[in-house]
Amino acid sequence: MHRMKSATAVRSTKLPSGEEVPVLGLGTWHLAEGRRGRQDEIKALRLGLDLGMNLIDTAEMYADGEAEELVGEAIAGRRESVFLVTKVLPHHATRRGTIAACEHSLKRLKTDWIDLYLLHWREKIPLGETVEGFQELIDSERIRYWGVSNFDVSDMAELFEIEGGASVTTDQVLYNITRRGIEFDLMPWCRERNMPIMAYSPIEQGRLVLHPVIRHIAEQHQATPAQVALAWVLRQDGVIAIPQSGTLEHVRENRAALDLQLTRRDLDMIDRAFPPPSSKQPLAVL
Ligand SMILES: NC(=O)c1ccc[n+]([C@@H]2O[C@H](COP(=O)([O-])OP(=O)(O)OC[C@H]3O[C@@H](n4cnc5c(N)ncnc54)[C@H](OP(=O)(O)O)[C@@H]3O)[C@@H](O)[C@H]2O)c1
Repeated sequence: MHRMKSATAVRSTKLPSGEEVPVLGLGTWHLAEGRRGRQDEIKALRLGLDLGMNLIDTAEMYADGEAEELVGEAIAGRRESVFLVTKVLPHHATRRGTIAACEHSLKRLKTDWIDLYLLHWREKIPLGETVEGFQELIDSERIRYWGVSNFDVSDMAELFEIEGGASVTTDQVLYNITRRGIEFDLMPWCRERNMPIMAYSPIEQGRLVLHPVIRHIAEQHQATPAQVALAWVLRQDGVIAIPQSGTLEHVRENRAALDLQLTRRDLDMIDRAFPPPSSKQPLAVL
């Protein structure tokens, strides 16, 4: 019997502005790619919202804009209750390109505003141009906050040197039991600045559920391996996890992971199987 029902509300964490956002949201990469029925995926997102996972992460890149369209349909009639995150592709991220990409995303999402707009990753366009674009979007109330993704500490430090760069709200990065490099430097760096990180691929795209140590811990708690993976990511403050699922059962399971309290023994077992970093590691990306 696996944990499926949750008695507690979804916890929240604070953005640098002080606004609270849920620590568990819904990813959308690989949705709208025809893997399942479109309506099934919309139902899965809506179920997540019903269960209090009121943060949706998408991107103009996902399914070439079709993931945003699907999200637009899923949030129709309930936009106010959703904290909506989407991303601009790096080759669009000039000042004008950022604004144009945002307008396209707004149309696909069928909304007037994006809560958090991220630079998906960094390429050649100078960061200052992207920040100017973000600032204009804030001034015209098309976005409420901006942030970055796949930025290592050196990128973040550079961003802070740019005019307006310190207004960054989050760094969305790969973080899960098998990808712990950021614990050495990026996590403490963000924590010192009261900036949450968003952990993407928190169950390593589903691969973590096969690991014997994770399976063993799950059995001890009558939980599932995915729940162990999520509970581990969410054990610390200042982390927002955005697992993706188009399956109703998995969405329920992921939501209930918030009720799973890993013990010191579990954490030690995980540390032995997946040691924390003892030196700087280059930022892992997917
Ligand atoms: N910023 C970036 O560069 C970046 C990169 C990667 C991802 N992301 C964001 O982060 C989100 C999450 O990452 P991800 O999609 O790469 O990986 P993930 O959330 O770690 O894993 C998703 C996979 O795990 C499966 N899954 C979900 N819940 C499960 C459960 N309870 N039990 C067993 N399998 C389960 C899903 O299949 P089912 O659909 O069948 O449940 C899907 O195949 C993305 O969707 C995207 O929004 C951002």
